[in-house]
Amino acid sequence: MSDQLKRAAAERAAALVSDGMRLGIGTGSTAAHFVAALGARVRGGLTVVGVPTSEATRVLATAEGIALTTLDETPELDLTIDGADEIDDSLRLIKGGGAAHLREKIVAAASARMIVIADGSKHVATLGRFPLPIEVVPFGLKATEIAIAKLLKSQGLPDDLRLRKIPNGAALVTDGGHFILDAHLGRIDRPEALADALNRIPGVVEHGLFLGLCTGAILATAEGLVEIGQ
Ligand code: A5P
Repeated sequence: MSDQLKRAAAERAAALVSDGMRLGIGTGSTAAHFVAALGARVRGGLTVVGVPTSEATRVLATAEGIALTTLDETPELDLTIDGADEIDDSLRLIKGGGAAHLREKIVAAASARMIVIADGSKHVATLGRFPLPIEVVPFGLKATEIAIAKLLKSQGLPDDLRLRKIPNGAALVTDGGHFILDAHLGRIDRPEALADALNRIPGVVEHGLFLGLCTGAILATAEGLVEIGQ
């Protein structure tokens, strides 16, 4: 069911793409449906160029025949379509469940609009039940972890940080060569304050709070599509 909902949101997003657009192309299972739907439109004659937000998406988009570019060649984008792990009523997001939030945030920030596609279960009243991904430089991992834990405590949040691992037990390494600490917070009442403080910790490359970047959402529920913003 969830997969059908993701596909419905993705197909609606693909219908919003117009000829000549410069696109940011997101990462994850919902974004993969978007890549497939966009590929079908491209084969039907649509001309677009896309910046993939991960190596995984680059592979998918290439297989679909979507013309790709880089942010260096095309630093200003018209629209980014991406998934999310959580989205609130103010279009604030948690992303990074797929470990791609660093490139996703750079691409979203370079886009005039960012539309999130998701099944309705991602829509929450308060962010934070989904663990917040914090991408960190491997050098000084322990010191960075201690600094983050202190910050979390100072904001009244649990300091439950877990290094993300791959199935063989090794630390997951992102496309950028970094590690991810997942912060199990339960609820984030002041996301802006948390984001600002995380941004000031040396060793933190990027966190998964996307604030003021998302301009619209297409949420697929059993009752149909709900569209917020644009
Ligand atoms: C990738 O790092 C994430 O930000 C994804 O956008 C997010 O995990 C959504 O993925 P799904 O569409 O697979 O739920």
